[in-house]
Amino acid sequence: MVFSLGELVQQTSSLAVSAFSLRSSRVLIAAESGGQNFTSLSLNGGLKRSGSASSLIASTKGTSKANVGSASLVVRAAESATPVKPKQKYPGENKGFVEEMRFVAMKLHTKDQAKEGEKKADMAPVAKWEPTVEGFLKFLVNNKVIYDCMEEIVEKAAYASYAKFRNTGLERSAALAKDLEWFKSQGHEIPEPAEEGTSYAELLRNLSETDPPAFICHFYNIYFAHSAGGRMIGRKVCESILDGKELEFYKWEGDLQALLTAVKEKLNLVAEEWTREEKNHCLEETELSFKYSGKLLRLIIS
Ligand code: HEM
Repeated sequence: MVFSLGELVQQTSSLAVSAFSLRSSRVLIAAESGGQNFTSLSLNGGLKRSGSASSLIASTKGTSKANVGSASLVVRAAESATPVKPKQKYPGENKGFVEEMRFVAMKLHTKDQAKEGEKKADMAPVAKWEPTVEGFLKFLVNNKVIYDCMEEIVEKAAYASYAKFRNTGLERSAALAKDLEWFKSQGHEIPEPAEEGTSYAELLRNLSETDPPAFICHFYNIYFAHSAGGRMIGRKVCESILDGKELEFYKWEGDLQALLTAVKEKLNLVAEEWTREEKNHCLEETELSFKYSGKLLRLIIS
């Protein structure tokens, strides 16, 4: 069995090592397990001659035999080593499919948007935005087109699994209707929906009937993005152009985290029925979801 240096360090609670010096970057370690079997651990390169092995490999116990001054060393295992967990093939899969979707989504953020982000920035950081009431109203109107559409889709449930997502508490359509009424009462003219909203709604309707994994990807990103970055953006915009007015769009009845957790569990259950190919197809849709939602976000500064 060949271990990497990192894995060797993970094994140290069951290995015993004494101080030794290294003259070569290639070290062969023979570890005895249960007094019978010898396991060969090979460390190739990467080992710097800094300090002793006992400082490199912390919290060791028992005894060992070190061939000081040569490139080899014998380590006696005090007890048998615990097996190393195999690497996950799909990041997040151990925690369920939503974690896989989240992993892909987080990478599509830019660094300034979220620390896990990896994408090159294609819009100014939110801190530099100069929002206008007109732009924000366009954003809200077109979001209403999307949430109306989403809520119709789950109500109609072209696929039985969509019915699980009725009345989750994450719905935003009624809240947006109230906000638009408030803007009207303040004398603002409510714009007509624009292409950013209508073209996305059309795509969502089509996908919901022809491609459930792709539709579920949009569903996840739309509702979860709004509860995360979307909420943070909304708060900033409202502070800067509406004297900190708290819009209904950014308020949820009950405990938002509990609502999100319940929806996550349902999404995980739905995805359990999918093949790996369907799961991958769903993950691949994330990019398109970012493209359409990004266009909606840009309306705020239009
Ligand atoms: C200016 C644009 C955006 C900003 C500033 C932003 C920021 C953030 C932040 C701060 C988080 C939370 C990170 C964490 O949990 O540690 C987050 C999560 C997330 N964002 Fe964004 N985001 C933006 C755009 C988007 C877009 C366009 C989408 C896709 C439609 C999206 C999808 C998500 C998802 C799915 C999560 C995970 C939510 C969760 O774990 O519950 N974000 N975003």
